[in-house]
Amino acid sequence: MKQFTWGIIGPGKIANKFALALTLVEGARLGAVASRDIARARSFAETHGKTTPVNAYDSYQQLATDPSIDAIYIATPHGYHAEHAILCLNHGKAVLCEKPMALSARQVNEMIDAARTNHAFLMEAMWTRFLPLTEQIDQLIGDGQLGDLRYIRADFGFHAPFNPDGRLYDLRLGGGSLLDIGIYPLFLCLHLLGEPETITAAGHLAPTGADDTCHAILQFREGRSAVISSNLTCQTSITAEIAGTHGAIQIPTPWYKNDRFTLQQTTQPPASPQSPATTGSLNPPQSPATIRSSILPRDPQLIQLEPMINGFEYQIRETIHCVSSNLIESPKMSFDFSLLMARTMDTIRTQLGVRYPTE
Ligand SMILES: NC(=O)c1ccc[n+]([C@@H]2O[C@H](COP(=O)([O-])OP(=O)(O)OC[C@H]3O[C@@H](n4cnc5c(N)ncnc54)[C@H](OP(=O)(O)O)[C@@H]3O)[C@@H](O)[C@H]2O)c1
Repeated sequence: MKQFTWGIIGPGKIANKFALALTLVEGARLGAVASRDIARARSFAETHGKTTPVNAYDSYQQLATDPSIDAIYIATPHGYHAEHAILCLNHGKAVLCEKPMALSARQVNEMIDAARTNHAFLMEAMWTRFLPLTEQIDQLIGDGQLGDLRYIRADFGFHAPFNPDGRLYDLRLGGGSLLDIGIYPLFLCLHLLGEPETITAAGHLAPTGADDTCHAILQFREGRSAVISSNLTCQTSITAEIAGTHGAIQIPTPWYKNDRFTLQQTTQPPASPQSPATTGSLNPPQSPATIRSSILPRDPQLIQLEPMINGFEYQIRETIHCVSSNLIESPKMSFDFSLLMARTMDTIRTQLGVRYPTE
């Protein structure tokens, strides 16, 4: 079997997790890493090159032009995703780009143009899209187990001490809670409910102008709604609920990568001969007590999924599958969906007053 050879740009924290995930995927290997600093590249190559050698480069350009590399994982701060992804796409490399795909919808459009022009694969590394958790929830909702989906609430918050030069707070690097962690609740809502009709956001900006707190209410067609929050100033519950007319899913912390959740359904008792459904207006009006008792909660069901080892292995398999099928985008994490996420984040942060230097 041909080995699918990966390169990594930006050997930081998340790149280490990605390199470990590669060891879990049959037919995949790490071939090279590029850093602005050759010592960092060599150290990363040594750590992850124990079984097969990993080349170390001191320029991202060198990695982009290495003919032995099939796909490149972009693990630099979001402020550089567009520049680094386009560099690789212009050399015909497949690209898996860390989330968020870029700082704005304008940048995401430029990346998609580069993928199309070069017929090169591009996908946002929205890894939670491919987890068993998301697949199982999609299936339950698709099977009608929740009835008509009406409401989603999800949050993601932790305390990141203020550092004006750090990735989370420096606007040049793409600082702000929404793009870094608010993207997880946002993904869940847009994935399940589609494009919002209206968005109302509020929050608070750190002294650098990056949002340290972000709340958004999203209103969808036919009155469906969602409430999302992200926070860099305190630990929040990191839980999610997804509710429909006939049931609800509760995902405990940390909801975005959990391998278990509860499903609480309601059930309608079988219709009696006197019920309004069968005899219509001939029946007397029901009292509120009768109406309440016609919806009975069933016992909550704990759904346990296959245990996740690293979490990134699923998106790596999806990339290899798509590239091997000569696709330039994943049907599961499409260009349109990344654009929808970017447009929605543009709207939210405009309301918050967050502006990146490239705009
Ligand atoms: N999927 C997830 O669970 C997850 C989790 C955390 C982060 N992320 C995403 O991964 C990306 C990187 O996050 P991280 O936490 O790994 O960041 P990090 O530890 O700071 O690493 C970023 C790397 O980017 C490179 N880089 C290039 N230009 C840079 C610049 N001007 N300033 C700082 N670094 C620069 C650096 O490598 P060299 O200097 O060696 O080239 C650095 O090692 C972000 O977009 C973030 O959203 C995803």
